[in-house]
Amino acid sequence: MSSIIVKGSNKLEGEISIQGSKNSILPILAATILCKGECVIHSCPKLSDVEVSIKILNYLGCTVEREEDTLIINTNNINRYDIPNDLMREMRSSIVFLGSIISRFKKARLSFPGGCELGPRPIDIHLKSLRQMGIDIIENHGILECEACDGLIATKLSLSFPSVGATENVMLAAVNARGTTIITNCAREPEICDLADYLNKCGAKICGAGEGTIIIEGVKELHGTEHKVIPDRIVASTFMSAVGAVGGDVVLKNVVPHHFESVSSVFKEAGAMLKVKNDSIRIKVPQQLNSISTIRTTPYPGFPTDAQALLMAVMSVSKGTTVFIENIFENRYKHVGELLKLGANINVEGRVAVVKGKKRLSGAFVEAYDLRGSASLLIAGLAADGVTEISDTSYIDRGYENIENMLNSIGGLVKRI
Ligand code: EPZ
Repeated sequence: MSSIIVKGSNKLEGEISIQGSKNSILPILAATILCKGECVIHSCPKLSDVEVSIKILNYLGCTVEREEDTLIINTNNINRYDIPNDLMREMRSSIVFLGSIISRFKKARLSFPGGCELGPRPIDIHLKSLRQMGIDIIENHGILECEACDGLIATKLSLSFPSVGATENVMLAAVNARGTTIITNCAREPEICDLADYLNKCGAKICGAGEGTIIIEGVKELHGTEHKVIPDRIVASTFMSAVGAVGGDVVLKNVVPHHFESVSSVFKEAGAMLKVKNDSIRIKVPQQLNSISTIRTTPYPGFPTDAQALLMAVMSVSKGTTVFIENIFENRYKHVGELLKLGANINVEGRVAVVKGKKRLSGAFVEAYDLRGSASLLIAGLAADGVTEISDTSYIDRGYENIENMLNSIGGLVKRI
């Protein structure tokens, strides 16, 4: 198992191009199951989660070829409607294959998904919604046996929480359902819009993505298409956080600035200087940032839970005290214990974490427990005197394409051993 070594670095300078969005490509890969013919997806990052999705598609009988950052998928010979437990357990978003498999085969068999331990990650909203669409779902011994004997029925659904995955699953189940499906209180993330754009290019009739209500008029069949995935707003937020922690002047290219407006506005408030263009954002941090009184995570367009750990590393070396309130996941402070080993001053009470900033941290051996927590430790290591070793790169490789090369290209001192 490899680990990452990062030396406390001085200012980061230069420019980097941001990879395609992990949380956009994953549901789109599941959606290719609905399309007759070839799908060509551009800007697809090389990530372990993407590899798992490709393994699932191959297991189902689809062909997937990669040419650089383009994937060519053909599902014409798909011949299975089950996903084995070992593949399901490898990542949380495997559950989103349920909507597309059940839509194509009217039956599906898969187990409860795995993924980062961010607290209990139930799928009750997924299952309740799909049952309302006429799908019988029997759960026994951790396996979901699903069948839609009379096909999928369009209906009006209201999600009890704007779950990203549940919204995606319902969209995938509804595009070929008979009639019009209306989803209220749905997720509004940019990745939802990207999935809707992709499906509409394949012949679906979806409107309202990005707002609180999505309307889907069922169509008979979807065809293949060509699509470029949106840039990854959380990866962009990660590099913005790295500059925020150590200072410098970096241009992030291939971004959609308004996709992470809630994050960049925090940096502006903390004293960073931002220059926003339509597909790039320049961040200058001349000296130690000021703290932010309170950071609350909320569904999009609010401050994203995926950036909470990233900002916590930054606020650990800011002037003053920041209060974090994590409202989305129950257990998303696993990085705190490791940040304390680097000398951070953080107190956690339930969903609240109080961070007292200090000038510098000091390098140490730390453990990774989840994807964004690992990125948080990497950012903190950049802002620490001496050397920091982060165990187990498997988490960070789920969401970042060769993060060490990217950081080194702007002056970081990071290597994998
Ligand atoms: C997606 O996860 C993202 N993953 C997560 O990013 C992201 O943190 C999350 O959305 C919130 O934005 C992908 O897109 C692959 P949810 P998802 O369903 O769909 C509860 C990363 O770092 N819930 O919106 O699993 C759930 O427990 C990852 O890239 C239910 O209670 O998130 C959580 O507390 C981490 N029942 C909250 O809702 C359900 O049926 C949000 O979950 C579904 C969810």
